[in-house]
Amino acid sequence: MCGIVGYVGAEDCAPFLIAGLKRLEYRGYDSAGVALVGESGLEVLRSRGKLSNLESLVLRKAPKGTLGIGHTRWATHGRPSDENAHPHSFRGVAVVHNGIIENHLELREELRRAGHTFASETDTEIFAHLIAEEVEGGHDLLQATRRALRRVRGTYALAVVSETDPHTLVAAKNASPLVVGFGQGENYLASDVPALLDRTREVMFLEEGDLVRLRQDSVELFDGDGQTIARQPRHIDWTPVMAEKGGHKHFMHKEIHEQARALVDTIRSRTALETGDVVLDGVGIDEALAKSLARVTIVACGTSYHAGLVGKHYLESLAKLPVEIDVASEFRYRDPLVPPGSLCIAISQSGETADTLAAMREAKAKGARTLAVCNVVGSAIARDAEDVLYTHAGPEIGVASTKAFTTQLAAMLLLALKLGRLRGTLDADRAGKLLQDLRGAPALIEKILAREDSILAAARTYSSARDMLFLGRGLQAPVALEGALKLKEISYVHAEGYPAGEMKHGPIALIDEQVPVVVIATRDPGRGHGQDTYEKIVGNIEEVRARGGKIIALVTDGDDLVSRLADHALWVPPASAFIAPLLNVLPLQLFAYHVADHRGTDVDQPRNLAKSVTVE
Ligand code: AGP
Repeated sequence: MCGIVGYVGAEDCAPFLIAGLKRLEYRGYDSAGVALVGESGLEVLRSRGKLSNLESLVLRKAPKGTLGIGHTRWATHGRPSDENAHPHSFRGVAVVHNGIIENHLELREELRRAGHTFASETDTEIFAHLIAEEVEGGHDLLQATRRALRRVRGTYALAVVSETDPHTLVAAKNASPLVVGFGQGENYLASDVPALLDRTREVMFLEEGDLVRLRQDSVELFDGDGQTIARQPRHIDWTPVMAEKGGHKHFMHKEIHEQARALVDTIRSRTALETGDVVLDGVGIDEALAKSLARVTIVACGTSYHAGLVGKHYLESLAKLPVEIDVASEFRYRDPLVPPGSLCIAISQSGETADTLAAMREAKAKGARTLAVCNVVGSAIARDAEDVLYTHAGPEIGVASTKAFTTQLAAMLLLALKLGRLRGTLDADRAGKLLQDLRGAPALIEKILAREDSILAAARTYSSARDMLFLGRGLQAPVALEGALKLKEISYVHAEGYPAGEMKHGPIALIDEQVPVVVIATRDPGRGHGQDTYEKIVGNIEEVRARGGKIIALVTDGDDLVSRLADHALWVPPASAFIAPLLNVLPLQLFAYHVADHRGTDVDQPRNLAKSVTVE
């Protein structure tokens, strides 16, 4: 996610802005910038790449000003570049923003027709134009910002300065975080607490719809209607390191808990409920091309490969496209057949995985159209593919992939819906229902996260196990593989995931009292006739119990049958078959996390692992 800092007070604030942005580097970024308002008016300095590039620029230019804002950008719209770096400015107004403006294209067109020209590809620049217009219309900065926000749909943490008012910093929050810091004769703003801790521990977290006006000696809080709000600051006693994790013990734990937000950001601006349509920015597949597709090949590694296994179900069920999937390291060395009309989908959180990049290039060289599902804008795989479907999970710091996985599932479902509608294999009603289900997933995820204590209890019970099995069927079989990968890579417990129907073909020989078995036994209606495997999975549970195995079962709320058979029930809210994988992975992520935490391993940086495997 982007990082924001702001200052209003009595000192030249460039050093504070740079120091604050450094405290936010952990959030990941691809460019940075500052805007200061001083005696010579508004000065904006921006630089692509590392913060040190901006720091050198600031030292060289030595901008002066006792009012300023700074930003580290994690690109969502527009590639990483100097021009796309924040702050964006227009006629003396400068803004920094974290979030996504859903209606930025229509606003950009409206402004262009009014004679505006734009210097960047970003959605954020819209704010500078809208607010400058209101300021020129005679409104003060707070009113101008409020009036501009009324025209915008989307998510934002926004900070604004204007050379017409060198003592005022205005900020607004909707979905993306912002926190105010209270100083003596100065006040501060930041995306996150770490940027403030060198100056103050008295902070106020902004809430949905808040607007705030900061001056040297005042902090005024307003609601969206301009009514004043009274809210007391709170004292933060986190260490700076704890603050980077938002109070969570590990980045992985923080990122597991960010998944509802990440899903909203990935789904939000791409779905039109009323028409059942999906708008995939960056994917140029039209109806003719969609209908000409003969086969899809998915290449990926690790967790992304498991997301591809779920994506295969989506594409075959909804778009009636035959799908082949292979781990990238195998695909690239087997001289694969890539018939005409092939679409190669490369799934990668980092967009830098060497095997996946090479596999996609192999498919491209054999004539396939290439589509990347990536979390990092401008990464190698994203740049190399003809189409790109970005997940908006924000930076994933923990080596074990969590929010990237659930947003990859959402992206694959959106793609399957889009292709199904274009190919005429999916009607608008069913597509609209599935979109409704998908948009409801974040709220269900929050419900599961609220049940963490029961998952913690199960993890503590089995944290000394040396071997574990994870079983699932249908769309849940890849989730079982993912649960096993999570456990093995962060806790070093040997864990294997299997399609439950395979038990009789070997794995059941492993079962005894020492081998706990996690079974995904949720009821997931909607797969269609003959594909409901619930009865079968209950049979698998019985097989394991008959051999003394301990059962940890994922159970749909209210299902007493399975909960009676299990030694531990991890409850999951009911969901339709295609949405269930996004939910069922949560208890498995938390189970793996708490087993590892209890065993004292390095959860965020497990031994022998790297976040991005850029070598073979
Ligand atoms: C998953 O938790 C691991 N970190 C690893 O398997 C990862 O998914 C794999 O290396 C692929 O990475 P990518 O998604 O960045 O391509």
